[in-house]
Amino acid sequence: MKVVEKSWNEFWAYYWRVEDRHRIPGIFEWDKRIVNFIEYVCGLKPPAHILDLACGGGDQAKVFARKGYEIVGIDIAPSLIEFAQAQFLKENLKGNFIVGDMRDINYKEEFDTCVILSGSFGFFGDIDDQRLLVSIRKALKVGGKVFIMFISANEHVDHTRTWRDLEYGWELGETWFDNEACVHCGTSAIIRRDGTMIVPKKEPGYHANERIRCYTIPEMRTMFAKAGLEYSASYSSRYLEVPPKTVPKGAIRNIVVGERKV
Ligand SMILES: C[S@@+](CC[C@H](N)C(=O)[O-])C[C@H]1O[C@@H](n2cnc3c(N)ncnc32)[C@H](O)[C@@H]1O
Repeated sequence: MKVVEKSWNEFWAYYWRVEDRHRIPGIFEWDKRIVNFIEYVCGLKPPAHILDLACGGGDQAKVFARKGYEIVGIDIAPSLIEFAQAQFLKENLKGNFIVGDMRDINYKEEFDTCVILSGSFGFFGDIDDQRLLVSIRKALKVGGKVFIMFISANEHVDHTRTWRDLEYGWELGETWFDNEACVHCGTSAIIRRDGTMIVPKKEPGYHANERIRCYTIPEMRTMFAKAGLEYSASYSSRYLEVPPKTVPKGAIRNIVVGERKV
């Protein structure tokens, strides 16, 4: 079998964030629900200025833009930024997409809200995740909100090995939880019917060999406080009613909202 290594940008970014994501039943409805929820809990009205960090292919950015919000989306993968731009062009939507590392943002009091969605917090380890919150605080206007959807440390992760049929072959996956580091881990490979196997390339930064630090709500609150953000509330992405209902006891809370007060 021929084994080909592909980087996040050249293969996996599009595979996971567009091809696979768009196969999930009801995903575009979910994007509308999460955007309505953010609007409500962050008290937003168009044309508020929104920063979408790790915006992927811009699925939620598109929903914001359709409603008349001014959106800036940042993602490390040029392939995803190109995809997002093409989607905006098709609908004649306004949006500013930037290829970049969210750790390097340097905005000052420009945004009404900053969102980080679909478990895109926890990529950098405790020190740099904390620094990112400081940069987010600086990017927010006074009174601005941050809305983070992360992978909760309370989420139970079994060690699983899976395979899936694809039109052009099979996807093999493995997920597990590194309890010592409190890190969600995952890796995958694709076997094409022509006998080629695609595996993640070893590369610095974000790649398809996923390692995401999982936090608890108390940890997030402490990090917010250290960054000068006031904790507002926590929610569960499984309960996105507007207005929000009380989250059932025992439900995993994986959304945290904070505010820049001064
Ligand atoms: C789980 S996906 C979420 C994408 C999108 N927010 C969504 O909900 O569909 C994580 C995204 O983070 C991006 N990413 C990884 N490291 C990054 C970094 N250092 N700076 C900016 N984006 C990054 C990846 O390219 C990927 O698109």
